[in-house]
Amino acid sequence: MHDLENRTAVITGAASGIGLALAQRAACEGMRLMLADIDEARLAAAAQALPLAAEAMYTMRVDVSREADIAALADAAFARFGAVHLLCNNAGVGLTRLAWEMSAADWEWVLGVNLWSVVHALRHFVPRMLQQAVESRIVNTASAAGLLSTPAMAAYNVSKHGVVTLSETLYAELKAQQAKVGVSLLCPAWVPTAIHTSERNRPERFGTAAPPSAASAACHARMGQAVKSGRLTADDMANAVFDAVAADRFYVIPHARIKQAVRLRMEDILEDRNPTPLPEKQ
Ligand SMILES: NC(=O)c1ccc[n+]([C@@H]2O[C@H](COP(=O)([O-])OP(=O)(O)OC[C@H]3O[C@@H](n4cnc5c(N)ncnc54)[C@H](O)[C@@H]3O)[C@@H](O)[C@H]2O)c1
Repeated sequence: MHDLENRTAVITGAASGIGLALAQRAACEGMRLMLADIDEARLAAAAQALPLAAEAMYTMRVDVSREADIAALADAAFARFGAVHLLCNNAGVGLTRLAWEMSAADWEWVLGVNLWSVVHALRHFVPRMLQQAVESRIVNTASAAGLLSTPAMAAYNVSKHGVVTLSETLYAELKAQQAKVGVSLLCPAWVPTAIHTSERNRPERFGTAAPPSAASAACHARMGQAVKSGRLTADDMANAVFDAVAADRFYVIPHARIKQAVRLRMEDILEDRNPTPLPEKQ
């Protein structure tokens, strides 16, 4: 998909990190923006700094884990702009815990924000995008964690593996229909954003996570360090996404080095080997 000027982009998790970088790049392309986030104040501040006229941009407080919120976002986007050409299902949260230390509410929160959000978005956006005469695209932000199984991230891994297979399935279904709706799947490794402090935006209905054990706390500290020292930036992710949109590419894997670990995982499976431990830093 080329020529994005005056086309409409809907971006979730747009107040921070990769979502904000996607919004900035979309604004530079001259797109009209519907920006969504659970953090209303930060979203408003982020939107104000974008180089766009007020009528070309709309912000909305949305909890992507709630179907009613995603339905309202879709209604607002189509009502305001008439069409959606780029849908970025990007909002996401992480929680670092050993698998057996996570409560049901922890799992529900992480799966709700990372996976159910995409399920809801497909239901409420795709039928209307299919009705459009012009090309459009869905970009789902998964993760390297959707292709690998990093310790202390069980719920996050499950959610992102879910987003990977959901996106691959969607791609196959749309291709079979020769639809004008394309799909891209972003799978970053570590990127310096605020993901390490995801609990700042945990909705009340999921409660709060219990204090971590010493082992989980050590994993959390290591992850925090890995996120902070990520060499590719949120802007690099946005640029990779827009390159993929222009090139009609499905897999967007900006950290090329993770491909070796993905290959090893696949070889373990194909050769009936037990899983090879991942190196400390991906
Ligand atoms: N940063 C990384 O290392 C990394 C790596 C791989 C994948 N990702 C993925 O990138 C995406 C963006 O994360 P980021 O790194 O920019 O983190 P971030 O914390 O900087 O941004 C995430 C945004 O999502 C919003 N959000 C959280 N819960 C929400 C909810 N219930 N409803 C609506 N919005 C909500 C937050 O308020 C925040 O603005 C996520 O899907 C994340 O899993 C990040």
